[in-house]
Amino acid sequence: MRDDDEFIRVAHVREITEDEGTVKIINDEEIAIFRVKGKYYAVSNICPHQHSPLIAEGCVENMYVSCPLHGWQFHLETGAMPNGLPGLKTFDVRVIDDEIHVRVQERRDSIEW
Ligand code: FES
Repeated sequence: MRDDDEFIRVAHVREITEDEGTVKIINDEEIAIFRVKGKYYAVSNICPHQHSPLIAEGCVENMYVSCPLHGWQFHLETGAMPNGLPGLKTFDVRVIDDEIHVRVQERRDSIEW
């Protein structure tokens, strides 16, 4: 459901497990939602290497999610790879009354491949 400032409610906090990804489709875009240390992150679910829709299935360690196919890593906050190269689109997230909202527009500081 769309909010008036481009944030869309995507899930209740109960749906998101710590250090695991959950895929939501927003405006035909697959977005992987993560919770790490109680904070929520939204990144594209599509790995820029071979365009595999698997990011939500990746392991999370030290704020990086690893694509399960070949292990490319992406920072959940910036989307960048460990070497600083661009990686995933990232999206703003907010939580209101235990509902997770994602801004459908890509963040301006997102470092995409
Ligand atoms: S498809 Fe993600 S690392 Fe190769």
